[in-house]
Amino acid sequence: MTITVIGTGFVGVVTAAVLARHHTVYGLDIDEAKIAKLRQGLIPFYEPGLEDLVQEGLNSKKLIFTTAYKEAVENSDVIMIAVGTPSATDGTADLKYVKAASQALAPHLKKRAIVALKSTVPPGTNDKVKRWIKKHTDQSFHLAALPEFLREGSAVKDTQSPDRVVIGATEPPVIEKLLKLHQPLSGDRLIVTPESAQMGKYTANAYLANRIVFINQIANLCEKNGADISEVVNVIGKDTRIGSHYWYPGLGYGGSCFPKDVMELASYAKSVGEGMGLLVKIDELNGQRIHQKLREFSKKSGGFKDKTVAVLGLSFKPHTNDLREAPSLTVIPYLQKHGAKRVKAYDPEAMEEADRFFRQVVFTDNPYEAIKGAEVIILLTEWPELVNLNVSKISRLAAPQAVFIDTRNQYQPQEIRSAGLTYIGIGVL
Ligand code: UDX
Repeated sequence: MTITVIGTGFVGVVTAAVLARHHTVYGLDIDEAKIAKLRQGLIPFYEPGLEDLVQEGLNSKKLIFTTAYKEAVENSDVIMIAVGTPSATDGTADLKYVKAASQALAPHLKKRAIVALKSTVPPGTNDKVKRWIKKHTDQSFHLAALPEFLREGSAVKDTQSPDRVVIGATEPPVIEKLLKLHQPLSGDRLIVTPESAQMGKYTANAYLANRIVFINQIANLCEKNGADISEVVNVIGKDTRIGSHYWYPGLGYGGSCFPKDVMELASYAKSVGEGMGLLVKIDELNGQRIHQKLREFSKKSGGFKDKTVAVLGLSFKPHTNDLREAPSLTVIPYLQKHGAKRVKAYDPEAMEEADRFFRQVVFTDNPYEAIKGAEVIILLTEWPELVNLNVSKISRLAAPQAVFIDTRNQYQPQEIRSAGLTYIGIGVL
């Protein structure tokens, strides 16, 4: 089968590279510079396993990066739209790039091609896309929704072996073709309407975001009464209705999806005459949390003024260099605003990216360099390299009686305390 994936952002490149193992795939973008780099196998972001996969696709000539709509679309049985949908000022998904892609692909469609929306968009978007395309072609075509559920840091695996492949389509020949397209991938197949597919995507993200806000609220209570949040999670997790995963507390969710998708769903709710209700509250509580925790950390560690602070982990989660809505973006300016003498930072992959965001931060070659002389150490991202540090080495290198703030609960409080440091975790005393 021949496929075009429009948009070579994170989702587009991963999808194109994975599918190119089994089909011929055009990765299409209007950004000439980006396409030129992709043709050389250069990927503009860090994602484990992706570079090798892109190289494999380029070598086999089954992965073709292009800026030419005609070349790609006229050969394709399925055209996936995977362009960005930035949030508009009213919080809804801005469909301008989806519209531009629809108009550009329309004149080149081959008969009965399938145009599938992979971008996260609200239900009802397929009808809009159909209208936009119809204005520019008389050719017969079909529309479908193919939402993705991939996570940064494990996107290749999530695409190759997803929990489920959701096919939002109602016409039997379309369903059949999309099933065939995904045949080499594992996971359950769910054939639903495009509206259900799109609602399913938003609902999954809003629910997971809700779960994080919820456990963070519970963690706050544990800090008041001496309960340990990890023990509480064990207790609830044994209830099969609840489950034990995806419950770990921190400074709140970040990244490119949850903050945006929660607010988009809230705005969508408003646009259809429903209140924004719970959804807007999720966003509000998550947004407040990091400021509240920073005030508490400051109080518990005697303030940050004139102190050297080591920040460990800058990306919003491990295995990515993505800083979108990362805690570091709030934490570092807070430290600087509150008089920290020096902020030293280390991240295994995100320091180059971070350099664009921060002023007067000393980036170090390894975590121990950052810790050297620090009066406060803040662990923000649970990179494997950062959760297995040698505690006695930390204690030797840090300033005497340094404070260790573990925002991801990765260390045993007792071990840190025995090494002569003050331990501050989340949801644990
Ligand atoms: C998420 C969804 O998981 C994915 O299905 C969707 O397609 C895109 O959004 P991603 O943003 O890559 O993926 O990361 P994820 O691992 O889900 O984490 C999101 C945020 O929640 C991170 O800030 C993470 O630190 C935080 N988180 C996650 C928690 O604080 N606690 C948890 O238990 C899980």
